Amino acid sequence: MTATSATPAQPSPSAAATTPPAAGAPEDALPRPTRFADVKGWFFPADQHLFAWFLDRQERLGEPGDLLELGSYLGKSAIFTGARQRPGDRFTVCDLFDAPAEDAANAREMRASYATLSRRSFEANYLAFHDALPTVVQGLTSVIRDHVPDASCRFAHIDASHLYEHVRADIEAVGAMLAPHGIVALDDYRSEHCPGVAAATWEAVLVGRLQPVCVSGNKFYGTWGDPRPVRADLLEWLSGQQDLWFEEQSVAGHPLIRVKPRKGAAEPPQPAPRHAAGASAASATSTSAPPTRRAARPAPRPRGPLGAVRRVAVDLLPPIVTRALLSALRRR
Ligand SMILES: C[S@@+](CC[C@H](N)C(=O)[O-])C[C@H]1O[C@@H](n2cnc3c(N)ncnc32)[C@H](O)[C@@H]1O
Repeated sequence: MTATSATPAQPSPSAAATTPPAAGAPEDALPRPTRFADVKGWFFPADQHLFAWFLDRQERLGEPGDLLELGSYLGKSAIFTGARQRPGDRFTVCDLFDAPAEDAANAREMRASYATLSRRSFEANYLAFHDALPTVVQGLTSVIRDHVPDASCRFAHIDASHLYEHVRADIEAVGAMLAPHGIVALDDYRSEHCPGVAAATWEAVLVGRLQPVCVSGNKFYGTWGDPRPVRADLLEWLSGQQDLWFEEQSVAGHPLIRVKPRKGAAEPPQPAPRHAAGASAASATSTSAPPTRRAARPAPRPRGPLGAVRRVAVDLLPPIVTRALLSALRRR
């Protein structure tokens, strides 16, 4: 399978932000989002719910590991993911930004979909919501393993080139960089404009060892570890959700959950800006989104006897038993 023809431009990104400036644009032309909805990108509410759930579950279970994003564009999904970075976690993002692509098909993809992208615009957006930038690797995703150790990550988002050869290599690299409990989110696994992503995704499942957990309209979520505990927890959570519809399916013997927002579903809490223009952060986010919270730093992982019990319980017991045990201990 080759990817020789130019990839048609992606559908327009969401958000009403001003067009980002080209590299070298003056400071006052950089984006100044005053709410998360202002950040241009392709990161929709169902996936915001799912990212939040996967990352919060890892936090609850005390699962260690860093965060990784391949393909950040203007930072929409990175800003959201970075809100769940815990003290001591490293968050690495890799994007070409305004650097040249290496092969002709990737260069065409960049011109068609991301012509106005610049690293400075990404940074301006990110710093509107966070005190510090993530570790930025500006370059091809093919170099990412020089920057991120194997088995070091708990969550990785693959959303860079949408050409088969690149996505296949990104999946292989992420498979090496994720810890066994790690989750990968793969963008555009079923979109008409990029059939190569579908091919690479299902190849990794059917020929490789990638295990599906769930799919949304835009992203596929999986793990190279045991998918059963996380899938069971997700089903339990979804059954109490007003905003998300779900069903169980099986693909070639791989069970998975299909998730969709219900009509009129609320957006999940979104990162709030650090400096809202002429208003408090809370009121600046209230116009089109539901009440949001400041991207709170999660509480540090528990230390001492409770932390030790939690670590052993997470390794050995089913999640439902772990939760009951931990809450009984907390009550005492
Ligand atoms: C679909 S956008 C990412 C969208 C983003 N995650 C969001 O939430 O809006 C894809 C990004 O991948 C980058 N990209 C494309 N090919 C790449 C490659 N081979 N290596 C690194 N980055 C690449 C583009 O510069 C672009 O910013």
